[in-house]
Amino acid sequence: MTTPLSDHIDAMLHEDRVIAPSEAFAAQARVTREDYDRLYRQSIDDPQTFWADVAGELEWMTPWTQVLEWQEPHAQWFVGAQTNIAHNALDRNVARGLGDKRAIVWEGEDGEVRTYTYAELLAEVKKAANALSGLGVQAGDRVTLYLPMIPEAAIAMLACARIGAAHSVVFGGFSVSALSDRINDAQSTVLITADGGLRRGNLVPLKANADEAARTTPGLQHIVVVNRGGSNPPMQEGRDVWWHDLLAGAGEEHDAVPVDSEHPLFILYTSGSTGKPKGVLHTTGGYMVGTYLTTRTVFDLRDDDVYWCTADVGWVTGHSYIVYGPLLNGATVLMYEGAPNQPDWGRFWDIVQKHRVTILYTAPTAIRAIMRQGDAYPNAYDLSSLRLLGSVGEPINPEAWMWYYRVIGGERCPVVDTWWQTETGSIMLTTLPGAYPSKPGSAGLPMFGVDAAIMTREGQELGPNDGGLLVIKKPWPSMLRTVYGDDARYRKSYWGEIPHVYFAGDGARRDAEGYYTVMGRVDDVLNVSGHRLGTMEIESALVAHPSVAEAAVVGRPDDVKGECVVAFITPQGGHTVDPAALRAHVSKEIGALARPDAIIVAEALPKTRSGKIMRRFLRQIAAGRAIEGDTSTLEDPSVLDRLAATEAV
Ligand code: WT7
Repeated sequence: MTTPLSDHIDAMLHEDRVIAPSEAFAAQARVTREDYDRLYRQSIDDPQTFWADVAGELEWMTPWTQVLEWQEPHAQWFVGAQTNIAHNALDRNVARGLGDKRAIVWEGEDGEVRTYTYAELLAEVKKAANALSGLGVQAGDRVTLYLPMIPEAAIAMLACARIGAAHSVVFGGFSVSALSDRINDAQSTVLITADGGLRRGNLVPLKANADEAARTTPGLQHIVVVNRGGSNPPMQEGRDVWWHDLLAGAGEEHDAVPVDSEHPLFILYTSGSTGKPKGVLHTTGGYMVGTYLTTRTVFDLRDDDVYWCTADVGWVTGHSYIVYGPLLNGATVLMYEGAPNQPDWGRFWDIVQKHRVTILYTAPTAIRAIMRQGDAYPNAYDLSSLRLLGSVGEPINPEAWMWYYRVIGGERCPVVDTWWQTETGSIMLTTLPGAYPSKPGSAGLPMFGVDAAIMTREGQELGPNDGGLLVIKKPWPSMLRTVYGDDARYRKSYWGEIPHVYFAGDGARRDAEGYYTVMGRVDDVLNVSGHRLGTMEIESALVAHPSVAEAAVVGRPDDVKGECVVAFITPQGGHTVDPAALRAHVSKEIGALARPDAIIVAEALPKTRSGKIMRRFLRQIAAGRAIEGDTSTLEDPSVLDRLAATEAV
């Protein structure tokens, strides 16, 4: 792990652009450069004072006796305090005069629009809380949610939080067996679902999946069904109940249940590199403070913003940056149900124009998919309301970054690339807009309280520009507390890999100015002839070629080089791929060592429904092995067979 990647990477990317925020933006920024420098220092040198000050902006029913109790690897934040996150997101905001402000503006894929003010959202959440209590759900219980992107998803999450039950949201694109496994692992007694969710004009049969899952979930007692699609699914007497019937019969008064700061807030399952998905457990107080602070500062949030995060609530981004963070801040949150290309690839820009969206937070995969369709779609809409853009989920290649900045942001909006994880709960690395310039492809500087470093596997800290493992050296408020039901796995995966630090699983480097460039999961890092190469860097080079739309690079064992490079690519519409030209291009961008030994040109790459390319399967195909492992999370598993049958060029 000690080979410096820097020489290669620098040569590879020729990426030395620095994009400073406009003077107009910087002049009004919530956090100036001086603020950042001072507050970051304080957050590291005196975390107790720093976090007590932030937490003091929220309401606690009982104050803490101690800000942090750290017994590696277990942290307790705001020890002894009691609070409720739904109270802070709703009652508190209504009490400070935001009752009539729009909390959620929802747009269905079919164009239907529904709006909830803070007062209306609070009223719904109170009824839902009473309804859940009526089903026997108590503080400490778990409730599984399997819902489309509809307001009821946020209402159900907040209702659980209000009564102290932990929610476990299962992404609506997950299969029956994934749902059943997660219900059983969490031992949920109640499942909240919908008859279906609209996706590309079709109703995804959520209730039918839930029925099938329920055959193998002995502990499940109730299924609550939201009527989204107007379909008429069979309802099992005694077990199934309509959401609207349940809420119609529920009381309207409800006081949020004060829970301990360390009381479980939610479980969210995420894939590890091995084994079954891990139930990442987050608790109340620290998560609340972390999402509250990061949303406000990273997105430079203002009273009149219309904030849109395009994630699904089934992922942590939806938890932290659609529901909790923005609502804690009293923001107006736009929520969209459907696909980005429904009815066509202009849909995002239609939504931005119609609702005068000011902040847009989306994923590189979406940016690239849209970019691939050409500039005509965004150019056909008025995007002048936008003032800030965000990116999350994977490294963003500089080409996509620049396109986003130029075509969507009109060179007017700062782009914040935000690195974090399901496990971290909130944003860990980014350039705060207005405080520091962005470097396309680099996530940037550590957020408050984040003591990041680059280390070797042995725990030796590396200096500027050395590639290594990204670690966090101190606990932070919104960190995961454990893997639900498997604390040994928590200790081993996160605090046991490298002594005494949190190991993120990513490879990264830090430049002389302290900017972190995250290169991707370390299992995606190749070692070619003793040189470490981030697959992302090769991909970035490939997609910079006009004939390439998307690229995924994996390693293949090689007798001579150790590993060699295999590139799977999809062609840019209207172009044919010339392998020799592409190799020459990669050679030119990066160096001969990164030249793909094999190029496989395909119509599609194997992606999860959230858009992540599953390189694990590509490695198997590249090596000519049979596909092993769970393919059920893929959007289209048949892609694998087609790839395996394609001759490399
Ligand atoms: C992994 C975490 C964070 C919410 C969505 C994904 C990768 C995430 C970035 C970024 C480079 C990124 C990392 C990380 N990742 N954001 N801005 N730049 N890589 O959450 O599913 O828990 O995935 O996503 O590899 O470890 P997740």
